[in-house]
Amino acid sequence: MTDILTPGRVRPRRLRNSAALRDLVAETRVSASQLMMPHFVLPKEKGEEAIASMPGISRYGIENLVRAVGADLELGIRTVLLFGVPKPGAKDATGSSAADPKGTVPLAVAALKKAFGSDIVVATDVCLCAYTDHGHCGVIEHGYVQNDKSLKPLTAMALAHARAGADLVGPSDMMDGRIGAMRDGLDKEGFTETGIMSYSVKYASAYYGPFRDAADSAPQHGDRRSYQMDVRNGAEGEREALLDAAEGADILMVKPALAYLDVIRRVREISSLPLAAYNVSGEYSMVKAAAANGWVDEALVVRENLHAIVRAGASIIISYHSRDALRGRWL
Ligand code: PBG
Ligand code: ZN
Repeated sequence: MTDILTPGRVRPRRLRNSAALRDLVAETRVSASQLMMPHFVLPKEKGEEAIASMPGISRYGIENLVRAVGADLELGIRTVLLFGVPKPGAKDATGSSAADPKGTVPLAVAALKKAFGSDIVVATDVCLCAYTDHGHCGVIEHGYVQNDKSLKPLTAMALAHARAGADLVGPSDMMDGRIGAMRDGLDKEGFTETGIMSYSVKYASAYYGPFRDAADSAPQHGDRRSYQMDVRNGAEGEREALLDAAEGADILMVKPALAYLDVIRRVREISSLPLAAYNVSGEYSMVKAAAANGWVDEALVVRENLHAIVRAGASIIISYHSRDALRGRWL
């Protein structure tokens, strides 16, 4: 685009002079249909526990989850992403309870599908870290998170979610080759229509701090830098995205969102797949903390953040602010 601009005649301010004019020429819009609400689900029917580091977000028992999702549906939120809290004592070295057909997530998926059917899209996070006693995202041998040995339990977890009726499974483990393994595993069992929303470009980010509180999934030793991406890299993100696309991902994702807007743009430009961005827990909690102190206007900051993510090139936003943004008409 190369316009010939004549200074003095072209006055950009003309189009800023009323809200109606600004809305008319706005280049980016964020609508409810693009917003995905994450939920933490407790291994019981009833209950709601506030998460201290994420004001406004709770862990829900399954009944409470169905009620909350119903209320959100009234606001226009039609997609949820589920994280399970396993039953007490269920964690072990290989995260075996992650594939339990009676586990928290399969039960929650079934309850949501029973209540809302195809009115909502149910996506599930697929990763072992909340189910392993060491808190890493894969199977550990010789002190190392083993890539290929982790593919089987991850695929088994995805299958348990698919059997319960999940529309989309979302692998967030960052093992190499997991999308291909999962696609094969799903297809072999007849789940050819279950989609994969891959956490393709996922960084080893300090912005996940509050989430690890919420899901009780912090690594008990070491960190995730041998499998999640180095925060200094952008070109590598393109490689990760292309690999996942080639392996059969249906939706790609960049995570976190706000510190990686350049990466969102890069992935947008090299793939035609739908692109999601995860506005993660730390990004949410920082805004909440600043707003609680009266340092920023939460509505305006969230509006700015969500539009920035779409402007960068994402068409789907996973955000803990989804409900607030719609309820408060912040967009
Ligand atoms: C599990 C997982 C994490 C998040 C989503 N799935 C945590 C992690 O990788 O440590 C983070 C989400 C957030 O911070 O909101 N692997
Ligand atoms: Zn994990």
